[in-house]
Amino acid sequence: MKIAVVRNVPAGAPAGQEQEFELPDELDGAMTISAALHEINARYGANIAHYASCRRGICSGCLVRVDGEVKKACATLARDGMVIDALNRKKSIRDLICI
Ligand code: FES
Repeated sequence: MKIAVVRNVPAGAPAGQEQEFELPDELDGAMTISAALHEINARYGANIAHYASCRRGICSGCLVRVDGEVKKACATLARDGMVIDALNRKKSIRDLICI
């Protein structure tokens, strides 16, 4: 499965560029977006910044925008073709973390 992450970087550098990552097809629909981001960082050293707290779908700390819709990364399954972006790109301090 292929997942794209919109990389948002601190002021002064190009922002909002999609970066695509490939994970094994058997993981399609078998792991949460949070887990997929961890897997991408582990496999590719991508250093994607993202936040999670409760990891149970309660706190909303992990909110991201998936194909334009707001989703909880810890409670949404990663699917082939997803584009994951910060909840609010203008408030992104890095990648998927917003203030
Ligand atoms: S980390 Fe709390 S809802 Fe996802």
